[in-house]
Amino acid sequence: MKPAQNSEQKARRGRFVVLEGLDGAGTTTQARLLQRWWKSHLGPLFSTAEPSKGPIGTFLRAAMGHRIVQPDGARLDPKAIAALFSADRADHLATEIEPALASGVDVLCDRYVGSSLAYQGLECEFDWVKALNAPYPEADITLYLRVSPDVAAERRAVRKNAAELYEIDQFQRRVAEAYDRILQPGERVFVIDGERSVREIQRRCREILLERLQGR
Ligand code: TYD
Repeated sequence: MKPAQNSEQKARRGRFVVLEGLDGAGTTTQARLLQRWWKSHLGPLFSTAEPSKGPIGTFLRAAMGHRIVQPDGARLDPKAIAALFSADRADHLATEIEPALASGVDVLCDRYVGSSLAYQGLECEFDWVKALNAPYPEADITLYLRVSPDVAAERRAVRKNAAELYEIDQFQRRVAEAYDRILQPGERVFVIDGERSVREIQRRCREILLERLQGR
């Protein structure tokens, strides 16, 4: 048996922070802007996203982009997609997130369990999706960038890339309602007005992170 480490030797566990929001809410932009700032104010950071860059995440991105379909051209079954998002999460946690946290590195993840509950929870039985995701650790902080479905749709329209599987206005309206039900403000969940300017949203994210993480 290895000798027990004393408290000085034991690395502090990293903090796990997640960004959530509709397609077009700006999570990717805010994650990018947080990266350099994080390293100088809060310490080492591993910034990542789901679907992950691993094998299952790569498959899912292809499915989101309609590049992987059934032989007859139909989309994949919603339950299969929900199971794949869960499988990608298990893989992402085991190969990247948990090792980073264990070595004391903070992790910022663009989308996590909240996305599965909000999106797949609408297409499949909600409690089943919840059960599929029950094994995964809760994020220490979730920043929910809340935008109206109309604002999100306007932002998606200017991107000009082809609409992905869930980027249908009517579906996004339902996702917006689902997010509001699932991500209620609390100890670990912060709802941020995602319709403000990029700078203002960034300022608010930083404020929350400093208050909750600095010196801890
Ligand atoms: P997104 O972050 O929007 O990727 P990109 O930057 O390539 O547009 O995620 C792609 C899609 O995946 C998005 O529509 C939300 C969806 N998604 C789920 O439906 N469930 C999940 O668990 C995750 C992680 C993502």
